[in-house]
Amino acid sequence: MRKVDVFDTTLRDGEQSAGVNLHPHEKLEIAHQLERYGVDVIEAGFPASSQGDFQAVKQIAEEVKNCKVVGLARSTKKDIDAVWQAVKGAKKPGIHLFIATSPVHMQFKLHKEPEEVIKTAVESVQYASQFFSHIQWSAEDATRSEWPFLAEIIEKVIEAGAKVINLPDTVGYTTPEEYGKLFQYIKQHVPNIDQVKLSAHCHDDLGMAVSNSLSAIQNGVDQIEGTINGIGERAGNASLEEIAVALKIRKDAYEVETNIQLNQTVRTSKLVSKFTGMAVPQNKAVVGANAFAHESGIHQDGVLKNKQTYEIIEPEMVGLYSNKMILGKHSGSHAFHEKCKELGIYLNEKDGKKLFVAFKELTAKKKEITEDDLYALMMDDSFIKGASPTYQLEYLQIAYGSRVIPTTTIGIRTPDGEVLQESATGKGSVESVYNTIDRILKQPITLVDYRIQSTTDGNDSLAEVYVKVDIAGQSSSGRGVEHDVLEASAKAYLDAVNRIQVKEYFGEQEKGVSSL
Ligand code: KIV
Ligand code: ZN
Repeated sequence: MRKVDVFDTTLRDGEQSAGVNLHPHEKLEIAHQLERYGVDVIEAGFPASSQGDFQAVKQIAEEVKNCKVVGLARSTKKDIDAVWQAVKGAKKPGIHLFIATSPVHMQFKLHKEPEEVIKTAVESVQYASQFFSHIQWSAEDATRSEWPFLAEIIEKVIEAGAKVINLPDTVGYTTPEEYGKLFQYIKQHVPNIDQVKLSAHCHDDLGMAVSNSLSAIQNGVDQIEGTINGIGERAGNASLEEIAVALKIRKDAYEVETNIQLNQTVRTSKLVSKFTGMAVPQNKAVVGANAFAHESGIHQDGVLKNKQTYEIIEPEMVGLYSNKMILGKHSGSHAFHEKCKELGIYLNEKDGKKLFVAFKELTAKKKEITEDDLYALMMDDSFIKGASPTYQLEYLQIAYGSRVIPTTTIGIRTPDGEVLQESATGKGSVESVYNTIDRILKQPITLVDYRIQSTTDGNDSLAEVYVKVDIAGQSSSGRGVEHDVLEASAKAYLDAVNRIQVKEYFGEQEKGVSSL
């Protein structure tokens, strides 16, 4: 059967989702899980965009062994050099070069004539060829480009050394039929097309990213690109897990195979959702909480008689098992670390010990420790690594009653080690907590979004709080995990502040770096 490569861009295009800002160690954790999931290529980031991204790509390149690790670059020497410096330690390094090819992008964004765009593209591929044997080249906004122009530029970048040609549907504009025809056209009109692999990259603005990707596969592409849970710019990218499962369940229709380990699907989805703070919709195909729930009486009756009546995907196939107890209070350090390894939790010795202590503390409050609990503990901000200055919650006291004004007193340890204390009121407890933190930090923080969920079932569950804030025009997100919802709320808010601190520490630019 024909093999289709899977190119994951969760850490690059996915990380471009509004409000998502992952720490380098979180990206590494996700990269390890992607490796277990079986993707062929990990696009680890955009090294020229910031020092933080550069470091994350470098670390992933050095640690991931079974996948190609590529970095994104505009068509400039500076970007290409940055990718090379970041990925040269990889077992299988690669670069992803792009330039816009649609009339609207060339005229208004690049201010270049089509001939100049060809020249720049060719020169960038030639320059990259001295470092890389694996060069992927993308025609940004390919689906709104003129097809004869695309054919011309593609032929020239192949001559210059490109090995994979990607035709992104950058703004999610195409339809399955049209996208398939585009690939057919390119195959027929580019004489040297047999020397390269063809790749599809779809966005979901019209809700067709997965269908468009599947159509590209039917029209002969060798690689599909996407993100876990479909996260990404605007409406997001094609959901890799949906494509992978569709290819498996409808093997009869698509007749291709991938290296994806489907039983890692749920774990990969959860990890990405928790680290990015982007909730998976309950009814999302394959990984939504309700994807396997049968609610109506008729459906339940059918499933009880024969699962196949209403269930086309077996939950076990995507790794959905009941979230059973995995460890208890008598579990020792060895069993604990073995379990972490099995779950794909990779921590250095110091953080491994910290997690074990946190686990032991949790067993005093919670009888059954599940896989989700371990992920939640791991996501506590105390596991943020690196020599970055952060604010830490020292103590918190809240007075609440149905007839009194909620009042909070908080102590925060500053990056200089000083503990600052303040009190404030609010219309509710959470607001009083946030007003107090604002007073201490003396920064103009606006809460944009607040979300709370429990880690597991039961009264003894941990609380996970996710917030999005805006600080002086910069957007950031944070999360906090605690037994107490108010403490989790305070931690999430501080986490969002700390992420901006870390960005500034690394001298990071805002997202959305300029074109070329
Ligand atoms: O959607 C897009 O066009 C991209 C390019 C950078 C390949 O993500
Ligand atoms: Zn994209």
